[in-house]
Amino acid sequence: MKKRGDYRAETGVQDFVADAALNLVFVSDMDMASSRQYAYTNCGFVSQNVYLYCASEGLGSVVRGSFDKDKLGKLLNLKPNEEILLTQSVSYPD
Ligand SMILES: Cc1cc2nc3c(=O)[nH]c(=O)nc-3n(C[C@H](O)[C@H](O)[C@H](O)COP(=O)(O)O)c2cc1C
Repeated sequence: MKKRGDYRAETGVQDFVADAALNLVFVSDMDMASSRQYAYTNCGFVSQNVYLYCASEGLGSVVRGSFDKDKLGKLLNLKPNEEILLTQSVSYPD
């Protein structure tokens, strides 16, 4: 899905989210996932890989579980079977 605009602030509830260079939103298609547990577990591995990449490139990152699931789901036009698992900000260190 493509949508023009700056929606960074809407991907989280903390102030720094609006200033982050990039905010990742991890979404799982629960119809495709073998289980809810595995969807969340796999998401943890993906976000950890983002952390590793950021560490190698001198970038900062923070995984965020604080977000408004309903609001963000509407913004992304998610289908009922699509669930937001986690968000993650990536940015340059201060
Ligand atoms: C599942 C999960 C959800 C988290 N949610 C948030 C969050 O919403 N906001 C936040 O600031 N930190 C959150 N954290 C903590 C940060 O990702 C990070 O681990 C913590 O800030 C320590 O980072 P530092 O060692 O770089 O200071 C969460 C961590 C985990 C594992």
